[in-house]
Amino acid sequence: MSGSPTLPPESRLGSTLRRDAWWIEIIPIIIMMGGFSIYATVRAFENAYYSWGPYLSPFYSPLIDPQHHWWPFSPALLILVGPLGFRATCYYYRKALYRAFLLDPPACAVGESPRRNYRGETAFPFILQNVHRYFFYLAVLFIAFLWHDAFRSFFFDGRFGVGVGTLVLTLNVSLLSLYTFSCHSLRHLAGGKLDCFSCASFGRSRFAAWRVSTFLNERHMLFAWCSLVSVGFADFYVRMVACGAIRDLRLL
Ligand code: FES
Repeated sequence: MSGSPTLPPESRLGSTLRRDAWWIEIIPIIIMMGGFSIYATVRAFENAYYSWGPYLSPFYSPLIDPQHHWWPFSPALLILVGPLGFRATCYYYRKALYRAFLLDPPACAVGESPRRNYRGETAFPFILQNVHRYFFYLAVLFIAFLWHDAFRSFFFDGRFGVGVGTLVLTLNVSLLSLYTFSCHSLRHLAGGKLDCFSCASFGRSRFAAWRVSTFLNERHMLFAWCSLVSVGFADFYVRMVACGAIRDLRLL
């Protein structure tokens, strides 16, 4: 027998033979995801302070019908489904959220509620998580818009310049790109279902793409958290500048 902990025969929620503080892992997830969800919801409904000069908050990009010609609510609500759906169905976040919020199970080798009838993601509603690959295509589109916003943030009244906001928005879209392009779905697109690269058409380029996506994919969790913080901070920065709470420092 290996020394790895296993569940006791009579398993109940939280029962385990593990002696380490396994519960510590889920606390930052609850704080980060809970905090981000509250902040993002408030901001999405706020419908104010989402742009200043060449800066546009990532929560409102692409900006659709800001003058309310046909959409009476916050423009952020029109686009929310894309980024939200992509994150909510992300393979990494699924693991983290199931553990932290559903305690299903709370950690490796820790018991879940015996009343739960575990069926994985093979039945409603969790089977819907399989739409993740389609959200990936949508996310790539959003990344294109955000790069466009970052590019625009280098121009103040038509003249080239760099402000702190320029750096914030550019760093944010860089991290979001790393998160998006380290997605498991992209790695599967490049190399999934293939047993032999050299036998497949475009095998050489697919192998190269698979290697790059594998390198990024191994760091997916890191990019997931960094980009979550950066997108929240980018919105916060634009909001602070737009409402006059701080001044954007011009560096160039
Ligand atoms: S697996 Fe996390 S974004 Fe696709």
